[in-house]
Amino acid sequence: MADEHGGFETVRENVDGHPMWNLLAYARPYWLRLTVGVLASFVTRFARLMPPIIVATAIDRVVLGSAEPGLLARAGLVPSAAITGEAARLALLERLVVIAALAYLVRSATRFASRYLIQSSAQKIQRDLRNDTYDHLQHLSMGFFANHQTGGMMSILNSDINRLEKFLNTEFRQMIRVVATVGGIAAVLATYSAKLALIALAPVPLIGLASGRFLTWIEPRYKSIRETVARLNTRLENNLGGVAVVKAFNRHAFERERVAAQSQTYHDEKVGALRVRRAFFAALRLLTGVVFVLVLYVGGRDMILGTPGALSTGAFALFFLYLRRLYSPMRRIGKSANKYQLAKSSAERVFGLLGRAPSVTSPESPYSPDGVAGDVTFDDVTFSYEQAHDPVLRGVSLDVSAGDTIGLAGSTGAGKSTLLKLIPRLYDVDSGAVEVDGTDVREYDLQTLREEIAIVEQNPYLFSGTVAANIAYGDQQALDAETGDGDPDPEIRERIVEAANAAEAHEFVSDLPEGYDTQVGERGIKLSGGQRQRIAIARALLNDPSIIVFDEATSDVDTETEDLIQESLDRLIAERTAFVIAHRLSTIKDADRIVVLEEGEIIETGTHADLLAADGEYAGLWDAQAGAGDSAAVGDD
Ligand code: GTP
Ligand code: MG
Repeated sequence: MADEHGGFETVRENVDGHPMWNLLAYARPYWLRLTVGVLASFVTRFARLMPPIIVATAIDRVVLGSAEPGLLARAGLVPSAAITGEAARLALLERLVVIAALAYLVRSATRFASRYLIQSSAQKIQRDLRNDTYDHLQHLSMGFFANHQTGGMMSILNSDINRLEKFLNTEFRQMIRVVATVGGIAAVLATYSAKLALIALAPVPLIGLASGRFLTWIEPRYKSIRETVARLNTRLENNLGGVAVVKAFNRHAFERERVAAQSQTYHDEKVGALRVRRAFFAALRLLTGVVFVLVLYVGGRDMILGTPGALSTGAFALFFLYLRRLYSPMRRIGKSANKYQLAKSSAERVFGLLGRAPSVTSPESPYSPDGVAGDVTFDDVTFSYEQAHDPVLRGVSLDVSAGDTIGLAGSTGAGKSTLLKLIPRLYDVDSGAVEVDGTDVREYDLQTLREEIAIVEQNPYLFSGTVAANIAYGDQQALDAETGDGDPDPEIRERIVEAANAAEAHEFVSDLPEGYDTQVGERGIKLSGGQRQRIAIARALLNDPSIIVFDEATSDVDTETEDLIQESLDRLIAERTAFVIAHRLSTIKDADRIVVLEEGEIIETGTHADLLAADGEYAGLWDAQAGAGDSAAVGDD
């Protein structure tokens, strides 16, 4: 995928107003902290202007004994009367030492304060933003997750949000630095010599303009480089992940070529961008050289000729001390502006995501009963995952009474899993309705509805953590107890064991090294498919839902496990409305009703006996499966 963020460039369209203003909204709770931080930062910058002024005064009045009072005297910090005699010069020197010491003290104190205040605000903003973004993401529809790569979402939650924090932390202070330094230096220089100050500052707007031009030139190139890097990374990730396939099919040379081609593209683009960057910075340096030479010549000449308004010796030194200060932050303007662009596009993605309205939400005044009986009705349901595509479900109608068990059969891709995902509103129908106890699921409070429905997925997902925590997942109280510090609540543990027992999971869990406290590993990698499924069943049972959906795994489970699952299944569906999707039809032959789905439509429905008698699709499937089981006997015939 060409898009670095897995399709996230599109979410930018959802940003209301300027993305950086949105960031400012997040700064609002910390405005006091930030304002004081910014003010402190300005004070630091001004304190930093002091040493050259002190040096200038020391040269002029202490060393040379000039009669010109100078800036500090005008500010009332030192006496303005002419200094004569050793004692007076010493006294002035001591005064300057005290001022210098104070300036350094103020500078380091305010620097500490501003860093602390701005950094802590940036961290808090980062935290708030990540929490909000994550929370918002969780409420987006399943369709959103299907269409966006996990890597892209991770990169918004991580890199983009971190980048915003870093921007606030570093570049924001950098901007203060530029403004305060350029402003402060301009003001000080102007008091010494307007003419020379003009010469010194003349390139500032020029540099600003050139930086702007440079940025508009470099930005698309950087963007293209980032995309190339993303493509290269995706390729590397794929190749390393699929290394077994690469080896098995002997595709080393082919893959090396592909990687080499992308590396080359990256190389060329980067080299091109670096060339212009170097030229830009070389030109900048040249410009500061011109300023240096001009100040040296014009300033020096005026002093020799004694032109009115000529600099004092100290002021002459001060100009050179300041010139460096003036241009070093200017050289960073390009970099800061680049960081600003990056932060802006991060903000676009983050706030674009936050601006995306969840499509499945509770209604204004939700229906929130204490419990449901478990009647389920599909009324002429049509559904498609993507608007433009053919519907996956077409005019499905089905009436299920509370407590009934419905078996679902049909070939792969028929729409079985999809149909049942509509009950807890993982998706909403395009037309028609899904009703629970006669009320449209869209009228329910979403949480209430989902508490009443448990799905045991085709490929159950286990979170890294203990077995007990995974079983407890559907119950807030139990989950808190199992994931908190300290010993678990024995009563809750008892419920978990009970659920595990009912799911036929207790025995194998007890055999694990640490029983219920065994870590299952990432996604339950340390457990077999059958074990994962039984833990998922226990998880579903713990919540005691009125409606249960069991999506049988297609992955091959051995016969013994299958029997065990079958047993746990019987308990799972007792006294509940149950939907059981089965590939092995023996699983559902005792169901109250069997529904056969093909290409999104119900083609047959009835009991096992009815369907065999009808001699349709189901009967054919049944014969095929029974035949496969008895193949040895058939072969003898
Ligand atoms: P098996 O589990 O293999 O037996 O199939 P199923 O009957 O459960 O089919 P399912 O309901 O999962 O899928 C029905 C159709 O929807 C298939 O054509 C899938 O390719 C498609 N489909 C399933 N999930 C998604 C999804 O998240 N996004 C999109 N766009 N299509 C999907
Ligand atoms: Mg399925």
